[in-house]
Amino acid sequence: MEVIIQPSPKAVCAIAARHVAHLLRTKHKAVLGLPTGSTPISLYAEIVRMHREEGLDFKQATTFNLDEYVGIDPANPASYHSFMRQHLFDHLNLDPKNIHMPDGMAKDMPLACQAYETAIREAGGIDLQILGIGADGHIGFNEPSSSLSSRTRLKTLTDKTMRFNKSFFSPGQPVPRYAITMGVGTIMEARACLLLAFGDAKAVAVERMVEGAVSAMVPASILQMHPQAVVILDEAAAKNLRHKDYYRFVYNHKPEWQQR
Ligand code: F6R
Repeated sequence: MEVIIQPSPKAVCAIAARHVAHLLRTKHKAVLGLPTGSTPISLYAEIVRMHREEGLDFKQATTFNLDEYVGIDPANPASYHSFMRQHLFDHLNLDPKNIHMPDGMAKDMPLACQAYETAIREAGGIDLQILGIGADGHIGFNEPSSSLSSRTRLKTLTDKTMRFNKSFFSPGQPVPRYAITMGVGTIMEARACLLLAFGDAKAVAVERMVEGAVSAMVPASILQMHPQAVVILDEAAAKNLRHKDYYRFVYNHKPEWQQR
C-alpha cells in the first residue's frame, strides 16, 4: 500500500486526477470504478477541468459506480445517479451506454446484482477503482462485518451511516436503510485502487485501514492485501499514522518513472 500525504484536499485531488488522466491516456478502453459522497467532488471538478482545458478524452471509457440507494428513483436529487450527473457525467464526453450504476429500483435485486458483476467482467474488469472511506472504515457501502470476499449485493446501512447520509436528503425525506453496493471482493478485483480521505473525521478509520490489522470490522483494511493500492490523504486524515515520516520519505524519493 502506498500512502501519500498532502497539505490539502486540493493537492490530494490533483494527484488523484493525474492517476485518472494517466490511465485514460495509456489505455484505449479504460474502465473506471467511481464513488459518490463529499470526498470525490473536488476530484470530479478537476477531471472536468482537464476534459475542458486539456482535452482529456472519455469517449472510449467505461464507468461503474460503487453503489446506489435502494428505492430511490434515479431522478431523485438525492440519488447517486443525480449526484454523478451533476458532478461528472453531464460534463464529460462519456458514451451513455458505457455508464453503469447499480439499479436501486430493480424488482429482482439478486438478479440485478448478478447482472452488475457480469457487466464489470464483460467490460474487462475495472482498471482503476476510486474510493472514499466511511468514518467506520467502510468502502462502497460495505459496512463493518461485511465479508471481505463479498460481491455486489443488497446491504443494510448502519444507523451511523444513515445519520451521516441524512445531510444529502431534504428535511422530512426518509433516508434509505438499504443500498446496492459492489462487494469488497468486487472492489479487490480492480487492477488498481485509489482511496482518498480528508479531515479529522476520517483519521481513526485511516489509521485502522493503513496500520491496523486486516479485519472485516474495518473493510477498507483489506486494501493492505491489494497489489496496487494507493491511499492519498490530507494532513488531518493522516494525523494518527505512526509512520508518517516514512510514507513522506518514500513519496519524496520516488524514481521519476514512478511519479505521477
Ligand atoms: C460512496 C461510497 C462511500 C463513501 C464513504 C465516504 O459511493 O462508496 O463508501 O466513499 O461513505 O463518504 P464521504 O466522501 O461523503 O465522506
